[in-house]
Amino acid sequence: MLESNSSLTVATTTAAGAVAAGYYYAKKKKNTRCPPVVPYTIPWLGSAITLGKDPDAFFHDAREKYGDIFTVQAAGTRSTYVTSAAAISSIYRNSKSFVFTPTRLDVSVKMFDMPRSIVYDNDYMTETMFPMHHRILAPSNVTPMVDALIKHTVGVVKESHSQIIANQWSTTLEEFAHKPVFRAISATMFGPRFPAEKTYDPFLVFDDYVPFFAAGAPALFVQKGVRARKHLIDLFEEYLGTPGWDDGAAEIITAIVNGARNESQPPWTDRELATAVNSDFWAANGNMSWGFFWCMNLMLHEPQGLAPLYEEVDAARDSWLKAHRSADLSGDNLTELGEFLDNASLPLIMSTVSESLRVSSSSFSIRTVVEDGVTINGYPQFEFSKGDVLVCQTRSVHLDQEIYGPDAAAFKPDRFLDSGIVTEDGSRKPFLAFGGGVSQCEGRHFAAKGCKFIVALFLLNFDIKLDPAHEAPSSGSALFDITRIGTGILHPTKPTHILVSKRK
Ligand code: HEM
Repeated sequence: MLESNSSLTVATTTAAGAVAAGYYYAKKKKNTRCPPVVPYTIPWLGSAITLGKDPDAFFHDAREKYGDIFTVQAAGTRSTYVTSAAAISSIYRNSKSFVFTPTRLDVSVKMFDMPRSIVYDNDYMTETMFPMHHRILAPSNVTPMVDALIKHTVGVVKESHSQIIANQWSTTLEEFAHKPVFRAISATMFGPRFPAEKTYDPFLVFDDYVPFFAAGAPALFVQKGVRARKHLIDLFEEYLGTPGWDDGAAEIITAIVNGARNESQPPWTDRELATAVNSDFWAANGNMSWGFFWCMNLMLHEPQGLAPLYEEVDAARDSWLKAHRSADLSGDNLTELGEFLDNASLPLIMSTVSESLRVSSSSFSIRTVVEDGVTINGYPQFEFSKGDVLVCQTRSVHLDQEIYGPDAAAFKPDRFLDSGIVTEDGSRKPFLAFGGGVSQCEGRHFAAKGCKFIVALFLLNFDIKLDPAHEAPSSGSALFDITRIGTGILHPTKPTHILVSKRK
């Protein structure tokens, strides 16, 4: 870990405000209809220490005392947090007044070092590139990407198979599952020639620094992160200049590159493009590879381990083979394997994916107010002005006991089986791992399907269990580094040691 936990939280908390306009608060006219400020004694530092110690407890207690919407002073920044499903949903529904685009542009510069000229000097990003993302990642268009992911996951699974020479392979879940899936996702996006292996270490370092970049931390504190980011951008620049790089790359990447090279005025340089594709690389890998990782990890820590999932996937495979006697599910015939995965009934695996994302995600869904005198439906006591920034703290909703019951913080793999996710009035319980509204995560269709298929492929091929020789944390929440708030799927506190063998 690069920093102490509390300084990481301070950074991520600061990020919420700094990402767009915490500074706006300071110069704002006196508005008596502002949300309450969580009291603090030390000027500037504010609530940073309490927040840093245990963000989940901080947001829970603050909500109990000050209501669904409140403002927090932390390390020189003031951010207004929205913590209830009702308020967040009202914000999502009013997409005319509460918008995401300013944040998306701001992080392009702060986190990904995209030059301001390509982000702000014309409207190519907002008018062409963002809609392109939306179209290509739509459910009806995402099939080729899912197919490529199956292909590359089969590739990494076969490699791991060949690594198991003795009966059992003693390794970590990070090495066995996270890294190969990172490579599979990378190859899916950039094609099989992409040097994914070379990007893994710099990516991990860069990802660790993302909260600090988002917070606009001074250069002195982020030197290592800047070097890692530069390393990644260098690699992408070199790769995009290699003839034939786009052979087997996903449309989401080829369309960005070809569009910005040929349609943007002026055309983007390869360096500029490299910064842009690095942002897509992070959006996909930063969340999806960890999402998959948590499915496996949290199940491994359940009393029965992966057994219920093996049972489900084995039953699905057996019934498929009964109906398709000559089907080859070994991975040698990708069409047949793809058909099986697409049609297999795997409700518990799907529930496990959703539940893993529910408990392991800590995302800020940030919206900027674009007109004066705006209120949140249901909260007329507060009025917001143009430039105000609201941070929808989606984790608070996932941990809300009134929605998910007294065991809201616990990982329950079957929670998302049909009846478990319906509220008393028949509506679906809020699930905000992908944010919400018109700016909900565009990669969610690919990510949700992809995680389901990757889990199934790993289960079909490997017996995995926790290594009893290593002490393992006993419950889900102890596994997460909850201090990395606001930037997506949480990271583990320490490596998970496992024993792997080939499935018979
Ligand atoms: C488990 C995996 C993932 C999680 C948990 C996740 C989460 C999120 C969240 C929370 C947001 C912000 C939404 C909001 O503010 O309401 C977001 C936005 C976005 N994500 Fe993901 N994401 C995942 C995978 C992906 C993948 C695989 C891609 C691309 C292939 C992707 C592309 C994007 C894009 C383009 C946006 C911006 C959407 C917009 O501005 O409208 N994400 N994601």
